[in-house]
Parts: sequence; structure tokens; C-alpha cells
Amino acid sequence: MRVTWITEDDAPAVVEYGTTSGQYPFSATGTTTSYSYLALYHSGNIHDAVVGPLKPSTTYYYRCSSDPSREFSFRTPPASLPFTFVIVGDLGQTGWTKSTLQHIAATDYDMLLLPGDLSYADFLQPRWDSYGRLVEPLASARPWMVTEGNHEIERIPLLEPRAFKAYNARWRMPYDAGDSPSGSNLYYSFDVAGGMVHVIMLGSYTGFEAGTAQHEWLRGDLARIDRGKTPFVVALVHAPWYNSNEAHQGEGDDMRDAMEALLRAARVDAVFAGHVHAYERFTRVYGGMEDQCGPVYVTIGDGGNREGLADEYIDPQPKTSVFREASFGHGRLQVVNATHDDDQPVVADQVWIASLASNPDCNNPAGTGAQA
Ligand SMILES: [Fe+2]
Repeated sequence: MRVTWITEDDAPAVVEYGTTSGQYPFSATGTTTSYSYLALYHSGNIHDAVVGPLKPSTTYYYRCSSDPSREFSFRTPPASLPFTFVIVGDLGQTGWTKSTLQHIAATDYDMLLLPGDLSYADFLQPRWDSYGRLVEPLASARPWMVTEGNHEIERIPLLEPRAFKAYNARWRMPYDAGDSPSGSNLYYSFDVAGGMVHVIMLGSYTGFEAGTAQHEWLRGDLARIDRGKTPFVVALVHAPWYNSNEAHQGEGDDMRDAMEALLRAARVDAVFAGHVHAYERFTRVYGGMEDQCGPVYVTIGDGGNREGLADEYIDPQPKTSVFREASFGHGRLQVVNATHDDDQPVVADQVWIASLASNPDCNNPAGTGAQA
């Protein structure tokens, strides 16, 4: 587990931890960085340290930079199924965000996945700090795995030519760890539940066409998955590849054209997106058509940001769009066993998804499922 925290003053990049509150027999030392933005803003000292090895399904108590006044705790994810993800995009820091965070905290979960658009700092760097304080109670307690949205870019020609400056400094993801390091904080993958679920975090705002580093990495990452051991594969992306909302129409099309065939050939089970501030679930789709071996597509960009909801939909509703609703909230993906998973209550919509690895029609090279 990587712990990231910020101190105003110089402080050691040390996390002390243990399984009993108030006792920290272990420690890990990491690194410290900082950044400036538009010459006016200087971040605090951004520390991160990787703690472990850790036992699964275990609560660890920890403190940062030896600060005795603040004890945190996190619970490590289970090493087997069932496994519960919270998925929420376009979170922001509004009253709606607060209510979404309360709803998330009210029911237990193992890991949070965020498909982009975190703080809506939008160039005003202190908003990254206030966002960190807002999510700290939850983000210090469970792994938060994020990928970038357009609001993370924060590039200003000539003045701030480096995109993702704050995001990369503050939200460092494990892109250099595991069997399939990507080399970029903007896309990466990891396994959970003892390898039963493979999660792929894609980058909508860095090169994705054939021949780019991301495309090459994705091909290799998908090729490495043994579906006999990993029944579920899900991907996250910011701009949706399927979307019948008027908002952001077509913005994910180029990336879909570049990568959709790879995902289908690898039998990726579901793709979650943000960007559109609403919820929408598609049936299994490929090439714009219903396809029993394509992923289920879900837009879950309704976390609570300050731009409000996207409530204008294209009429008539496409046949492939099963459910759509513009209201704030979050999603729960509970992976139950090797053949099914489901989308838990949160009132509006729920669905069972069977693993494509368990569908013989999608795994016979000569069969109808093998196109792509
Ligand atoms: Fe967005």
C-alpha cells in the first residue's frame, strides 16, 4: 500500500505502522517531492512511502512523519472473492460530493476506483489541497485507484507546458510495479482478489492510437492475462466510448476506434467511464452493435462536481443503452464468484454480469465470438 501525505514544513517521508492502535512496530521510508505552479503557488512537501508486505483483509494503524497527533487506519483488500469496488467519477468538492462520500462511507467496500476528474482545481492549486482534505477520511482508509480526466491536465501553453503536473505529483499510482509496468502514471493495471480480477486504468488524455506507448502497453497487458486464473477483467477510462447523453458526444470515439478491438479480443467484461455527469449502462457492445462477447459499458460520472448534471439525452434511446439517469451518486461493483458479478443496490439500477471467460461462445477461436 502506498501512503501519500503532505506536510507544510520539512518532515521525514516515514510511515510507521502496525496492527494495533497506538503501536507502530514497522516503518517504511519513501520519497518527497513538491512542485510550483504559475510561480505563485508552491505545494507543500508531498511524501509517499510504500508500506508492506501486508496481510490481506487486515486493518493497519499508521502515522505519517512521526506525527503522534494523527493516527490513521486502512484495511487491506481481501486476497479472494468476494470483492467490492466503489466506482465514482467526476467527484469534485461540492455539497453533492459530500453527500456522495457519505453514501460511499455508509456501506463497506474494499477499494475505490475513480475514472478521472478528481478535484476540479482547474488551475487553482489550493483546490487540490482542499480536495485532499475532503477525501482524506475515505482515501486514508481504503486504496483509492484513480486515472486522469480532462480536469487533471491543467496545461497552459508557454506558462505551464507540462500537463498533469499537480495530478502526477499528488496521485502517484503503481504504474511501475507488478508484472506489467506501464512506465506512465497516466495508465496502468493491477490485480486484486488474489488475481481473480484484473483492473486496467486507461488514459483518455495521453496518446492511445496504434503505435503509441499506451497502445503497445495495453496489448502486452491484455496478452499476459490468463483467463483460467483471472475470470474478470474490467477497464476504466475517462471519456466514455458509448454515450447517448448530449454531453461530450463523440469525445471518446477516437480512443474507442483505437482500442475497442483489443478489449473485445481479450474478452474484457466491463468498461467504466466518467466525464458525462450522469449514469448510463449499455448492454454488451462492440462496433456500435449489441455483441454477446463485447464488454458492458457503464458511465458513472455523477460523483458531484460543480458543473452540475448532464440531463439531456439523445432521443430515441439507442437499443444498446439499457438504463440512463442523470442524478448524483456512485456505483458498486461486487465481484462475487468466478462466473458472475453484480452491481449492488444503490436503488436506481442493478445488473448481473457473467464473466466472458465462462462463456464458451466467446472463447472458441473458430466460433462466432472470435471476431476482432
Ligand atoms: Fe471530464
